[in-house]
Amino acid sequence: MSPVYRTHHCNELRASDVGREVKLAGWVNMHRNLGGVVFLDLRDREGLTQVVFRPEDNAELAAEARKLGHEDVIQVTGEVAARIAGMANPNLPTGEIEVIAHELRVLNRAEDLPFEIGGDVKDEDLRLKYRYLDLRRPQLARNLRIRDKVVKAVRDYFHANGFIEVETPILSKSTPEGARDFLVPSRIWPGKFYALPQAPQQYKQLLMVAGVEKYFQIAKAFRDEDLRADRQPEFSQIDVEASFVRPDDILSLTEGMLAAIYRDALGVEIQTPFDRVTYYDAVNTYGSDKPDRRFGMKLVDLTGAFRQSGFKVFRGAIENGGVVKAINAKGFASVTTGQLADLETTAKKFGAKGLATIKAEGSEWKSAITKFLSDSERETLRTQLEIEQGDLILFAADKWDRACEVLGRLRLRVAEMLNLVPPNDVRDFLWVTDFPLLQFDPAEDKWNAVHHPFTRPHAADMQLLDEKKYAAVRAEAYDVVLDGVELGGGSIRIHEPELQAKIFSILGVNEQQQQELFGHMLRAFRTGAPPHGGIAFGLDRIVMLVCGETSIREVMAFPKTNRAQDLMSQSPSPADNRQLRDLGIKLAPERESS
Ligand code: AMO
Ligand code: AMP
Repeated sequence: MSPVYRTHHCNELRASDVGREVKLAGWVNMHRNLGGVVFLDLRDREGLTQVVFRPEDNAELAAEARKLGHEDVIQVTGEVAARIAGMANPNLPTGEIEVIAHELRVLNRAEDLPFEIGGDVKDEDLRLKYRYLDLRRPQLARNLRIRDKVVKAVRDYFHANGFIEVETPILSKSTPEGARDFLVPSRIWPGKFYALPQAPQQYKQLLMVAGVEKYFQIAKAFRDEDLRADRQPEFSQIDVEASFVRPDDILSLTEGMLAAIYRDALGVEIQTPFDRVTYYDAVNTYGSDKPDRRFGMKLVDLTGAFRQSGFKVFRGAIENGGVVKAINAKGFASVTTGQLADLETTAKKFGAKGLATIKAEGSEWKSAITKFLSDSERETLRTQLEIEQGDLILFAADKWDRACEVLGRLRLRVAEMLNLVPPNDVRDFLWVTDFPLLQFDPAEDKWNAVHHPFTRPHAADMQLLDEKKYAAVRAEAYDVVLDGVELGGGSIRIHEPELQAKIFSILGVNEQQQQELFGHMLRAFRTGAPPHGGIAFGLDRIVMLVCGETSIREVMAFPKTNRAQDLMSQSPSPADNRQLRDLGIKLAPERESS
């Protein structure tokens, strides 16, 4: 801190400093003019101090101070004084004192601003356009600091556990993480492209082949995908890989890391170890592989009860190999027509053909389907779903995965409508394990990796792989979930070239493509690759939850909009023709003429 500008920061002075000569510098936060006396709150990143200009001390200076505007940058020299009786502000750490100014230097003026720094700005586009002003707001300034604490906690933790941070390239080769790549054209190799990494997956595995044994990195990752509150095209991962490890090693390493983050950033002790739930149980019970278990409303399976049902929709779904499942939205028979329509739209968005419902009102059940139900079916419903007066029941009759997904989405929507999510200090960390290794995509008529192609099949399921029972093969993969948000995911990897080649073949990557795309990996695995595994966490998502925010944009300094734009710098932007010529890129004719 240069004494040229300041001797103290704006959150430092207390009653014990009364009488001291001090110098402060910062922004004019608030400005009041009371009968010639000017009061202003001077703000710097640490806090606020009240500064007073009294005309009886120096009329010229007070007149100068009267001309100050919000967000002008000033330097003030003065004497710390106790506030007069009754004027102390108990809500401010510096609330017992004020600085009586006898010198003022205006370091820079601020024009009229697009929004008030202290106010609540609803228009997110406006905030993003003037992000440097937005970041002056206390909430965002706080979030940046928490983020810094989280990053420091992570680095300290991994260093204490013998991990070293290694940087990996940004100009790299496409990795099959499942999203679209961002491509960078090469000038030196016209017609060829680098890909920005969707994750440092291959590099970190190659570092294990290199004998690094314990690697971590706070890494930038890039994915060209549809954006949401917890997805950005460019985000940060805490990326981890270790050799000679089993899943339990990675799980307890992760629990230690998250405990260190909450301890160092918030002073909160979290409970470890975390619960473990299999993928099947998570989806079957909560309709999601990242279940929010902070409220009940579990999915109840009713397939047994409707196998012979007179209600064709249910019986038909079961005859087609599907299931009938339902959730009980307790006390929600009061649902409005609008809310019901919303729920039906949600169900259809996720593939439901309809949404059968029952409202248990008074002694009656109001429903389009009760007339098809036998007495015993009603009784089964009543006991299995624990139906009481005032409840709303929502059904899904479909293939297992679709029925689960539809009810999982409805469950979250109902929880929002009924405000069932408890406050931020109830934290539910859990592991989801035993993911399927492969998933069939009927549109492409091929098997895809659920995580990525380097994920190791369960030793016990290798046989199923040979028998081509791909859907039943489990992966040695794990995700860590907090309050319904996937914080991270990883796996034990394949380290044998033969097994890796076999998985590529199942994924439809033929031998020639294997050499072209993954030759370096297969070759590396033939040079003494140790057994290894790892995990990657969404740093932005962790910080979002630590800060109690609901969007990762609130914890990134310069995020992009949901349409992948930087409104402040107006990027993406057109490139000039010369740059394009250098890169050997020819514009489409309509662009050239415009
Ligand atoms: P995965 O694809 O699950 O795994 O990514 C790891 C974690 O990164 C976060 N994340 C994102 N955060 C913000 N915006 C996005 N667009 C975004 N996409 C993902 C999530 C996710 O859990 N290489 C593997 C990890 C491994 O196997 O070690 C990988 O990248 O929190
Ligand atoms: P229908 O006999 O086709 O008019 O359907 C009767 C009720 O069942 C309506 O409320 C539909 O919305 C609902 N329904 C139809 N298909 C399904 C399904 N697959 N799962 C749950 N409800 C459904």
